[in-house]
Amino acid sequence: MGDRNALLSLLEACYLTWNWDGVADARGEAEATVTHLLDRLARLDWTTAAWDGHQLVGLTGFSAAHLLRGRGPRVDGRAQLNYLYCHPTHWGTGLSGTLHDECVSVIGKHRYEDVQLWAPVGNPRARRFYEARGWSCVGGRIRYQGSVNLVRYFKRLPATA
Ligand SMILES: CC(C)(COP(=O)(O)OP(=O)(O)OC[C@H]1O[C@@H](n2cnc3c(N)ncnc32)[C@H](O)[C@@H]1OP(=O)(O)O)[C@@H](O)C(=O)NCCC(=O)NCCS
Repeated sequence: MGDRNALLSLLEACYLTWNWDGVADARGEAEATVTHLLDRLARLDWTTAAWDGHQLVGLTGFSAAHLLRGRGPRVDGRAQLNYLYCHPTHWGTGLSGTLHDECVSVIGKHRYEDVQLWAPVGNPRARRFYEARGWSCVGGRIRYQGSVNLVRYFKRLPATA
């Protein structure tokens, strides 16, 4: 998933749908974020991407969860699902559900007990998507990129034998 331009296009399309506080330019925000995100993606434990020809249309991955916004110690038994982004042209097609289910399934195989994620507070579509898949909102708001409020969701994983 090292294609900067493909990631930039996906980010811009997704950021246009977010409820930013004081950010008028989704393209500028995507450009400001893309290098950092490529670096973060390369450090996840697992990622998957979906392509439609040369267009990146879906993305997600996970890592171990850490305290202090990822900078603190690892949380025992807990994973974090990161960057579930689906291009708006593919919303409602089932692609997001497929990416989500695959990621949660791989996390389960790594013997984590539970998983967390951060979703934009002002994105009812994303929140509905997660709640329909058994995620519970547990509060804990943070600011992302200084301009969007995120809220934490949590999901317990089935015990593995
Ligand atoms: C969040 C995301 C991955 C969900 O994928 P999707 O393909 O849009 O999801 P689906 O269409 O399968 O499900 C969305 C649900 O929200 C519902 N919905 C749509 N608009 C809504 C709204 N304004 N308010 C509440 N629910 C809404 C849909 O009806 C659907 O629910 P249903 O399956 O019960 O009918 C995708 O929208 C996305 O990538 N968004 C931009 C990036 C993002 O915000 N990612 C999450 C960051 S953690």
